[in-house]
Amino acid sequence: MSLSRTVLIGVATTVAPSKSAVGGFFGHMARHAEGQGARLVLFDPKNVNSREGTMTARECLGTHGKHEWRQVKCRLPDVIYENVFVHLVMHGYVRPLRALARARGIPLFNPLMPCKATLSEWVRAHPETGLRVPVTTRVVDVATIDRMLDRFGVVYVKPVGGYGGRGVLRVRGDQGSVWVDCDRCFERGAFRRRLARAEFGRFMRRLLAQTSYIVQEQIPLLHVDGGKVDFRTVVMRDRNGAWKLIGIVPKVAAKGGVVTNLVAGGHKMRLAQLRQTLGATGVSLPVGDLERSSLLTAQALTRTYPTLGVIGYDLGVDAKGNIWYIELNPKPSRSLLNGEMSRASARLSAEFALYLARRRLSRQDVRGVIQ
Ligand SMILES: Nc1ncnc2c1ncn2[C@@H]1O[C@H](COP(=O)(O)OP(=O)(O)OP(=O)(O)O)[C@@H](O)[C@H]1O
Ligand SMILES: [Mg+2]
Repeated sequence: MSLSRTVLIGVATTVAPSKSAVGGFFGHMARHAEGQGARLVLFDPKNVNSREGTMTARECLGTHGKHEWRQVKCRLPDVIYENVFVHLVMHGYVRPLRALARARGIPLFNPLMPCKATLSEWVRAHPETGLRVPVTTRVVDVATIDRMLDRFGVVYVKPVGGYGGRGVLRVRGDQGSVWVDCDRCFERGAFRRRLARAEFGRFMRRLLAQTSYIVQEQIPLLHVDGGKVDFRTVVMRDRNGAWKLIGIVPKVAAKGGVVTNLVAGGHKMRLAQLRQTLGATGVSLPVGDLERSSLLTAQALTRTYPTLGVIGYDLGVDAKGNIWYIELNPKPSRSLLNGEMSRASARLSAEFALYLARRRLSRQDVRGVIQ
């Protein structure tokens, strides 16, 4: 038995699709894997029996052309696509699974990526990506923010491990006081207050006690209908490990809003529609540059993270057509993708999984590991 072994792709998720729900993202992924002669199962990391080397999972099985998800017991997968919700991962839900994969040499994507501060520094150190990076500093104490405020007038203060626009503050100096704007102040909803410097200091010290922050200069983003715009660009690797563009989705903040995140009041737009709207005001969108810098950055990151397979960037564009780096998400939410992008993403997820599995099996074959 060697490279001809049927590859088993394991998708780690706590989502359990109903028996007949075979049309969604996972259903597309499963049928694409089947078309490539592989098996695909969905499994909850807590249903793995590492001692036995088995797990309870769901498989999309078809009889007489009718597919349905069925519970199966199977061996450990040849490759794992870790697709567990970010908020569960933040609480260590997949730590045992990642340790098991490392111990068994099972390729797993995406790898854990460094925090926002480290990634901003990395992009800044790689100008060949064509991305501009706003001046960014790790917040040591309130004085760090005060210095940036004095330098730039308006700054963004955000948690290094944040997501969904949670806790992203726009801070504007105003004579002796400070305006603090936040669309999604953790569970407290929007927060818009003018604080005296001392009050701001107390406010920030409470936040800094809970988690680490970075402070950045404000990026002069383009605006449409009074809301600022940024771009979610999604790139993925295919069956040969090559990076491909899945799509570019403009996100627009509410009028005067701080963030463009959909869960925090933003809305998405079709790229063609935005091009038209901005074109009417004489602004042409550098779509080619958005794609090029997304692919170049991904290719450069792959040298350090060889199992990296999907990235969702947040990129900005200013009035001069410069492309700015806001952040990258190793687990971009699929809610931003339209049907065509979602199907392409499902196909490439299966293809990249096969690429990693076959690369591992061929290495084992070479070393004569597989009898
Ligand atoms: N320096 C900045 N200048 C202007 N706008 C910014 C800046 N930093 C962040 N933003 C705005 O805030 C939004 C959220 O910031 P960011 O993407 O860093 O946070 P997030 O909570 O991790 O988001 P995600 O859910 O995409 O992971 C950005 O999409 C952008 O609209
Ligand atoms: Mg973001």
